[in-house]
Amino acid sequence: MCGIVGYVGQRSALDVVVGGLRRLEYRGYDSGGVALVTADGLATAKKAGKLVNLDAELEARPLPHATTGIGHTRWATHGAPNDVNAHPHVDDTGRVAVVHNGIIENFAELRAELEADGHELVSETDTEVVSHLVADRLAAGEPLPQAVHTVCRRLEGAFTLVICDAQTPGVVVGARRNSPLVVGRGDGENFLGSDVAAFIEFTRDAIELGQDQVVVITADDIVVTDFDGAPSPTRDYHVDWDLSAAEKGGYDWFMLKEIAEQPQAVADTLLGRHSSDGLLQLDEMRLSDDELRNVDKIIAIACGTSYYAAMVAKYAIEHWTRIPVEVELASEFRYRDPILDRSTLVVTISQSGETMDTLMAIRYARQQRARVLSICNTNGSTIPRESDAVLYTHAGPEVAVASTKGFLAQVVACYLLGLYLAQVKGVKYGDEIRRIVDDLEATPAAIQRVLDDAEEVRKIASALAGSRSILFLGRHVGYPVALEGALKLKELAYLHAEGFAAGELKHGPIAVIEEGVPVFVVVPPKGRDQLQEKIISNIQEIRARGARTIVLVDENEVDAVSAFADHIIRLPRVPTLFQPLVATVPLQIFACEFAAQLGHDVDQPRNLAKSVTVE
Ligand code: G6P
Repeated sequence: MCGIVGYVGQRSALDVVVGGLRRLEYRGYDSGGVALVTADGLATAKKAGKLVNLDAELEARPLPHATTGIGHTRWATHGAPNDVNAHPHVDDTGRVAVVHNGIIENFAELRAELEADGHELVSETDTEVVSHLVADRLAAGEPLPQAVHTVCRRLEGAFTLVICDAQTPGVVVGARRNSPLVVGRGDGENFLGSDVAAFIEFTRDAIELGQDQVVVITADDIVVTDFDGAPSPTRDYHVDWDLSAAEKGGYDWFMLKEIAEQPQAVADTLLGRHSSDGLLQLDEMRLSDDELRNVDKIIAIACGTSYYAAMVAKYAIEHWTRIPVEVELASEFRYRDPILDRSTLVVTISQSGETMDTLMAIRYARQQRARVLSICNTNGSTIPRESDAVLYTHAGPEVAVASTKGFLAQVVACYLLGLYLAQVKGVKYGDEIRRIVDDLEATPAAIQRVLDDAEEVRKIASALAGSRSILFLGRHVGYPVALEGALKLKELAYLHAEGFAAGELKHGPIAVIEEGVPVFVVVPPKGRDQLQEKIISNIQEIRARGARTIVLVDENEVDAVSAFADHIIRLPRVPTLFQPLVATVPLQIFACEFAAQLGHDVDQPRNLAKSVTVE
């Protein structure tokens, strides 16, 4: 959370920085601000609220031209989201400007020390101390990079800092501990950003920074050191998507665009995963087959929507491999004293690769000697770098705060992992695996058909306008789908929505059913296990109590439910385990449509941020 940008080059730094902030706004939108190094010293502008407020401020009070600048879009932690607390924070001599992502845990003690020395701090933020501390070091004669090293060594907690100094033109310094920062390498210009979206318009050549590194950029140079100033290694990479992927491309909302991109996201995540003889290959994984053969327990860990992908993974991986899978919220995992050892595979799932709760779970698991494999959508992010192995999803950049294509791609990656483990362990024949992969490879076309039928879902959203509470039921893999459907609606429409395991309803939650309450029910395809029959009984139970039922069902099995359904959403036929790939999509469309009808900002729901880099 919080987006930060830095630029040094020949262009208007203001245009580059504000353009970058616009593409990072998904990370937080409580306030925005910029600082430029001009011929007459620092020039700053900052404003509470979304970036449009900063735009208006810049129009009313234009800043002078500059080619060095920094900027920030905020998700508030310390201090209310007002103008004063907005970043950048400038020291009381007006020399040093700082933007920050993270939490400086020892800020109170540092602030007391600064105040005792006569410094006047004006905001309630933890960040402001940094500008004063750096200014003190500069006044003591240290050059800007060295001043940043000195100050970083005193800070505790999580911080990405980007800093400029009025008396050091043409230089921006970044520092990174526990929060993301990447470098964009240009020609006669260089960039810093919380992620590559900040500078994708200008360069696709990026440098991944490691933990506890400081980077100094000028127009022609990039120097990376540790906090002591010693040279420190980095990794260069090329971003495999371009500006168009980070723009709306004619859609009203990023979320709608990302929903529409799901067939591609699934197909791209499946691409190149098997050899010509049909054997699955997960090249980038970095774990040997021997290590995988020794796995006797899996713990799948994630947050939010990614956690529901982990729930789906449990059904599939246990079914195919017979390896027990526990599923755990990242924020709970390390506090329960989990049982882990060298033969435990911890699978973490994160679209952004930066979620702090998940990162902390990874560090804990590795301390306990477990191996960690991360499923991640973001090259260059922290989580894959700190894991033993990685399986990238290829959904492309996800901008809307509520995850859609990221989720489907994660589910696919979990299936691939399960099938690969089955192959390595020899618990499934090659031709069985091949048949399952064939079914998986047919799902992008099925998802496309759901998208083509979206009109029916939009009609249902209109018909349910005014509902104050909406429930979702599912069984088996339909259960996480129900949870995800409810989460999407909470996130976007700020509405009471809950997902339940359909069989559990009668043990309590059925009491909330009253006349007219809309209930979505995900019906599993007909199989040997009578799941479908069971859920049809559940539909009848709630219908008898007045619920208005919206039933998602295999298009070939509509007759089985039509007598109990007020609305029907037809799903293409897919194997039961793959049903989440088609059943989640109408629920995403429903939530998006329902929220848009209420006039909400679908891409940037209140109180949320996409990449949550605090615990
Ligand atoms: C935040 C977002 C959710 C997301 C969760 C996990 O809470 O608002 O949409 O599912 O983080 O994010 P990750 O990037 O780790 O998948």
